Formats: sequence, structure tokens, C-alpha cells
Amino acid sequence: MNLFKIYIILVSSFMTVQLESLRDVLAKAELEIYIEEKKLEINPRHKLHYHITPPVGWMNAPNGFVFFKGEYHVFYQFYPYDTQWGPMHWGHVTSRNLVDWRHQPTALLPGREQCFSGSVIDNDGILAVMYTAHQISVDPPYYNESQYMAFSIDGIDFHKYKNNPVIVSSPFSSPDFRDPKIWKHGNVWYTVIGSRTDDHRGAALLYRSINIINWEFVSTLAESNGELGFMWESPDFFELNGKHVLLISPQGIVAQGDRYKNTYQTGYIIGNFNYENFEFTAEATFQELDFGHDFYGTQTTEKDGKRYLIAWFGMWESAHSEDVDGWAGAMTLFRELDLVGTRIIMKPVDAITNLRMQTISEGELARNSSIQFEQTAELIINVDLSERIELELKGNGVGGDWAIVRWEVDEAKMVLDRAGDVRQVGWEPLDSMTWRLFLDTCSLELFCGEGEVVFSTRIYPNGQWRVKNLGPQPIHVVAYKLRRSFPE
Ligand code: FRU
Repeated sequence: MNLFKIYIILVSSFMTVQLESLRDVLAKAELEIYIEEKKLEINPRHKLHYHITPPVGWMNAPNGFVFFKGEYHVFYQFYPYDTQWGPMHWGHVTSRNLVDWRHQPTALLPGREQCFSGSVIDNDGILAVMYTAHQISVDPPYYNESQYMAFSIDGIDFHKYKNNPVIVSSPFSSPDFRDPKIWKHGNVWYTVIGSRTDDHRGAALLYRSINIINWEFVSTLAESNGELGFMWESPDFFELNGKHVLLISPQGIVAQGDRYKNTYQTGYIIGNFNYENFEFTAEATFQELDFGHDFYGTQTTEKDGKRYLIAWFGMWESAHSEDVDGWAGAMTLFRELDLVGTRIIMKPVDAITNLRMQTISEGELARNSSIQFEQTAELIINVDLSERIELELKGNGVGGDWAIVRWEVDEAKMVLDRAGDVRQVGWEPLDSMTWRLFLDTCSLELFCGEGEVVFSTRIYPNGQWRVKNLGPQPIHVVAYKLRRSFPE
């Protein structure tokens, strides 16, 4: 090749790179202007006060939960242009304390690919993102999923890797191959990716890399025995109290009695993992993590030896009353995980007490009496499990959703009835006989005892919250108003 040809190739590839970057910068700027303008049209009536919500448009699963240079970062599946799911972007929020959050510019915009779920790791001062590129095709199977990477030096501005994809396809024939969760052990990076086997059973696949760019398939960490669904989404794999936890969101588990009543589930398998032969040996069967109506697609991160978790406060195929208001979707409260035997317990992160403002009421709540709040509250309820307990939660206006929280003595069950749609599960308190109930504009989260049973449910009361004691016994309640910690 003569020198002139080499010169032309270099110049044109330089220009292509420059043009692409310029196009990216312009697209990002236009999107931020659009979001700022569109925000003015939001009807704030249902906007949650202390949960993460999108500035405008649609939000589903959390992505890339990470602590980086003094701040927690949470990304999320985001479609700014409608309040229904659409071509996926990565929205972005940051916080110093897991309580007070602010919006950041959209981190990833779709190109030829949609930016499906993934995770982020702090690689010695550079944030490395691995996400699923979901690409539509005209021929069967009509889409393809591969793994892409992006990087950021400042944690705000993200650049897609030029030689994507870094993992082209799964070892199975199915195109379903998504939601990589990346971590480092020793000097090696690992990632676990959700997939489905050739005979349509959910599976979690393990890959490794010595340079974070070139990845090799290592093993199938676990797969459904036929009863755990056709596809496993949002896998996560981490150590907790000396055991390994495989957290998964399976699609296609069939409802059985009180179990698996949501469209899809999120739960975990506890076991032991050996980094020599990459075998994960389960010690207990799949267990659901949360028993409410709206909990899916989790992300966790570790900081100072604590494992924090967040989930999409929603469920596929559920209606969102806020979607006529210009936004849809939310995240749950941040929780800290612990393992007792082979069971995960979940409590709100300690910093949540920062939200407390004045005490609204303290003392006995007699039978048939009620407490009224504005739009937010935390109730600490001391329970005596020898008799039935029954609380009604609804708005002070006519209509709107209602819920009943009940303790059934004979069956030793916790029941959450949202307007006739019941979730229930046995509760054996480890020690504490306290419930912590968090109410936000259109949500409730109930943590029983040490977090052995948790319900996360979206609910739309009409007017201000009113909690009424319908049970036979007076109950002791301390109730706080909670402040706003997320921008309106
Ligand atoms: C989880 C999920 C992921 C997928 C993304 C699409 O809720 O379904 O599996 O990557 O959302 O938005």
C-alpha cells in the first residue's frame, strides 16, 4: 500500500471517529433539553417522595448499582419518549447516602442496539459497564442479544467501546442472553449472564476475563430443573456470610397455591461455589425474596462489607396509574441483606431513618380508630401475635386503592390484600415482633421482624393515607412523617 493510501485511510477513520463522537454528543444534549422541557408537563400528584422515579417517561429494572469516587450510582432501564416500554436507554441517578438522590444526564442512548440491562464495576478509577445489546432483526428469531461495554472516567459521561460486542452470543441456540453482572475475584473478572437452554429452561452462565475485554465461557452456574421457568433474567452472584447467593428473576414459573403469584418472580438459590472447578452446589431450593405484588429485576452492590439491594418497584403487565401523568415506574427502597441459615433477610438501609421528620403519633391505636397522614409515613408497629392483627390502608377520599395487612394466627401467615388481590406467606419471627411499614404517595413496603418477610406493592390511594386498626387488639404505633429525598 502506498503512503498516500495509508494517509487517506487514517484521515477518513479519524474523521469517522470524530463524526460519531460529535453525533453522540449532540444526541445526548438534545435528549437532556427534551427531558427538561417535558418535565414541565408532569402531573406530580402520584410522584413518589423518597423513591427513585424517572424524570419523565418509562423506567423498569435497575442497572449498574455501584459506589464510585464517593457516590452511589444507580442506572435504570429508561425510555424517555413515552410512559410505556420502548427502545432502552440507561437513565442515571447518584447519591452520597442511599437516601438523597439527584438526576444525572442519561448515561447510554441506543444506537443500532437497544441498551438492555447490565452492571458497572469500578476498575481502578474507571467505570466499566457491561450491558446487553438487544438488536431487532427481520428474520427469525427476530432479535439478537450480545454483550457490549462502555467506559467512563468521571462517572457521568459514558463512551461505548469501539470493538463491541465483547461476547457475541450464548452457547445455546436461543437469542435470550442478557443482563450481565460483573465482579472481580483475585485478578480475574467474572460475569454471570441470564439465558435459556435449547430445551427452554432458564440458566445462568459464567464467563471470565483477564483484561475485562476478552471473555471466555466457563460454565453453566445453574439451570432450571424444569420447574424454574424458561428464561432467567437479571442474575447476580455474590458471597453472603460465607455462602454464595445466586439471585435470579425467572420468567415462566407456574403459580402454586400462595407461591409465584406475580407475572414473574425474583428469588435466590443459596449454595457453595468453588473457584477451582467453577461448580456451584446448591444447598436449598429457589426461594422468593419479596412477597409483594411489585418487585423484580434486582441489582446489588457491596460497600464496607454490607450487601445492598434495590429492585424495580413494578411488574410486567401491571397497570401504572401514573402513566397518564407523564412518567411511569419506580425503584424500591434500598435494603441491606443478611443470611440466616439458608434464608435471606432484608431490612431497609440504616440511613433511611434520615427521612424521619416529626412524629405524627405515638401510643396505642385502639380498635376501629385510625391515624391520618399526608402522603408519606413510616409506621413502627409492635405486634402481639397471639391474636389476629388487621390494618386497613386507604386514602381519605372516596374510591382509590385499598389494602389490608393481616396476621392470621391459626395459619401463622402474613397476608397483604390489595383490593382483593392477595399475597400471603408464613412468618416465623427470628426475634423482633415489630413491623416497619413505609408509605409513599403510591406505594407500601412492609418489613416484618428482622426482614424475614417483606412485601413491596404499588398502591394508589385517593387522597391522604389513613391507617385504621380493624383487629381485635389495640396496637402500639409510632408514626413519622417522611421528607422528600428525590426531586419532584
Ligand atoms: C428486566 C429486563 C431485562 C432486560 C430489560 C429490558 O426487567 O426484562 O431482562 O434486559 O429488562 O428492558
